[in-house]
Amino acid sequence: MSLTDPQLAGIRATATRHAVYGLVVLSGLSFAAAIVGAQGATRAGAPNVQLARAVAEVEQLDALRSTLARTFAAGGVSATDSTFDQVCKPVKMQAMSVAKANGWSIAQLAERYRNPENALDAEAARVFGAMQRDPEMMGQWVHATRDGSTGVRYFRRITVESSCLACHGARAERPAFVQQRYPADKAYGFSAGDLRGVYSVFLPDSIRRK
Ligand code: HEC
Repeated sequence: MSLTDPQLAGIRATATRHAVYGLVVLSGLSFAAAIVGAQGATRAGAPNVQLARAVAEVEQLDALRSTLARTFAAGGVSATDSTFDQVCKPVKMQAMSVAKANGWSIAQLAERYRNPENALDAEAARVFGAMQRDPEMMGQWVHATRDGSTGVRYFRRITVESSCLACHGARAERPAFVQQRYPADKAYGFSAGDLRGVYSVFLPDSIRRK
């Protein structure tokens, strides 16, 4: 599925932009309605309630990380292994548990990754590139295949906030545990507002039709 397909044009979800900054539940749901409605209306096999739920779940994951990072940035916690457990690991674990509960696959992928497991694949790289060119583009869904199953893949922009910079800012200022655990780290040197990466959720058709 090519991203030049006009029905796959990116969502410019201006009404939901505030969702990025943390007004979680309502914004997440209106974002879900916007992206599913705008892109799914005219296509056979259009996304259903499962995709809307995936969109809402991703908003919650993003809000969780914002909250944890703000708590971290507010101080009082030093950047040791245990703070790693307080910021990005819970997001990953929550993503895994949401994925398992729903039969989805969820990942957080980046061009400049910290963990090589989170590198962009070709399809994610195309969406990431489109988001780089268009700062208003919040999300995108495409028809996709994974491990032989057809389905829908939903992408959502991940934006750098100032609270992220303690760990994703200047290279020399990264916490010691980051420097030690991630020798090939590329996820530094960001500024607030930068495109950091994308959430990716794959929803197999077998699940979506239930
Ligand atoms: C306390 C340090 C810390 C803070 C604060 C932090 N991160 Fe991270 N981040 C990490 C670590 C460590 C990883 C690697 C996790 C792994 O091994 O999968 C990571 C991974 C990521 C990834 C997955 C892609 C990759 O590079 O491997 C994204 C996306 C991400 N962070 C975004 C953010 C955003 C956005 C914020 C702010 C809202 C933030 N992080 C705040 C430490 C941090």
